[in-house]
Amino acid sequence: MTDVSGGGSNPLLDGLRIEPTPESTTLVIFGASGDLTRRKLLPALYQLSRAQRLPARFAVIGIARTEMQDDAFREEFYKSLSEFAEVEERTEVATALARELSYLAGEMDDPALYARLSEKLHAIGSDGVLFYLAIPPGVYATVAEQLGRAGLVKPPDGRGWRRVIVEKPFGTDLGSARALNETLHRHLDESQIFRIDHYLGKETVQNLLVFRFANGMFEPVWNRRYIDHVQITAAETVGVERRAAYYEGAGALRDMVQNHLMQVLSLVAMEPPIAFSAENVRDRKLDPILSIQPLLEDGRTSNVIRAQYTAGWVNGKEVPGYRQEDGVAPGSVTDTYVSLKVLLDSWRWAGVPFYVRTGKRLPKRTTEIAIQFRRPPLHIFKRVSPTAIASNLLVVNVQPDEGISVRFEAKLPGTRMQLAPVMMNFRYGSAFGRAVPEAYETLLLDAMLGDPTLFARHDFVEASWALITPVLEAWQASGEKAIPTYEAGEWGPREADAMIAAEGRRWRTL
Ligand code: BG6
Repeated sequence: MTDVSGGGSNPLLDGLRIEPTPESTTLVIFGASGDLTRRKLLPALYQLSRAQRLPARFAVIGIARTEMQDDAFREEFYKSLSEFAEVEERTEVATALARELSYLAGEMDDPALYARLSEKLHAIGSDGVLFYLAIPPGVYATVAEQLGRAGLVKPPDGRGWRRVIVEKPFGTDLGSARALNETLHRHLDESQIFRIDHYLGKETVQNLLVFRFANGMFEPVWNRRYIDHVQITAAETVGVERRAAYYEGAGALRDMVQNHLMQVLSLVAMEPPIAFSAENVRDRKLDPILSIQPLLEDGRTSNVIRAQYTAGWVNGKEVPGYRQEDGVAPGSVTDTYVSLKVLLDSWRWAGVPFYVRTGKRLPKRTTEIAIQFRRPPLHIFKRVSPTAIASNLLVVNVQPDEGISVRFEAKLPGTRMQLAPVMMNFRYGSAFGRAVPEAYETLLLDAMLGDPTLFARHDFVEASWALITPVLEAWQASGEKAIPTYEAGEWGPREADAMIAAEGRRWRTL
């Protein structure tokens, strides 16, 4: 192994580096010829290397079924950089990293593959080995079993570490998630399992913890006494793209809510952990999920609205309906939009609804958390400024315009006492003047450092599936041939508006 940390051997720089760098590590990517590797993992490794965050001794072994030589895998790496990281030239950092890339072709259930892998790992001799399962979920258990049988999940002589990153989807319902946890636990200790949820790697999502628990002024009002309701939105303009084979069996509730949005909700709703440590944070994050009232009431799922997009216009482009997309069944009832009203049985949140919505082919790509505060108890300006006052609002813009805004009432300049709502904005870009790292960079590095704070623990995943599964089963059992629709380019179906309007509230206009 050579130094791929982007020239980090300068001792003067070492003293300035306050961010930790992992020990010597080999990353083994199962599914190395796949989409995730090209789109996310290889670009993330390049960026980490450029920022001098990779271990000085670092190697990558790509594994997939496709026959390929090491050099061809390196070419794939350069291609991925130019396509997904806007790196056209073979920079010094890129070529140094490429030298550490190698490739093994084989079948995931073939013990011979693992014997070759074992030899290779032995020859490289890193302290740490991180296995990344960037493969279809049907093969997770096979790979875990084979790694276990080949003795690859324990470091020889007990020195160093072995960890496994498991990609989403982690199961398709409670039963399959439990079964997968059981299989993984047969071969690995929970401390070795890193279930990735890329939303937790987003800078703005991590900042929720800092915003809430490193400031004194927000937490005292972060409860039912001051907050009227919370809206969490994850809107996408893209459709199903080329992922119908996966998405048809998933739908928005599984694809976005069970994992990403439940994680976000728990960060908004959790109690303060006693310390910023992986287990303290993950213990507290579990509570809100466990306290959510069942989504199925008397066999009815009235607090969950599902819908599917029909043909329409998005970003000035005409787009087909979901049922007309490649690979989608003409009578598909897969949800491409879902909205939920969630109530938590907790002292902090009793009676405060959390409205959650996500959908594809919506008018705008934006993810945000809006905390809607209650109005002041009395409108003392009513006589002089008769318009109703807007209640205070705190918006965490998760993406794309990362930041936090607060809306409050101000006096309109002039001789009369007139009120108007104004915004106070914090923007990452202008405040820090540096780019926000990609979630995969943060998460890959954390896994190398052995920090599981931003990874999903087994009990969270199961609790979240326990909440969602009855709804999925009820939908399945209903045998409905059609579900509500919304035109591509609209903010979801009428039913979702009606759900929130029934309580005298409305979705935010974004
Ligand atoms: C993925 C889903 O987990 O998250 C996709 O499978 C979705 O369907 C994506 O598009 C959204 O992620 P982001 O980071 O673009 O909000």
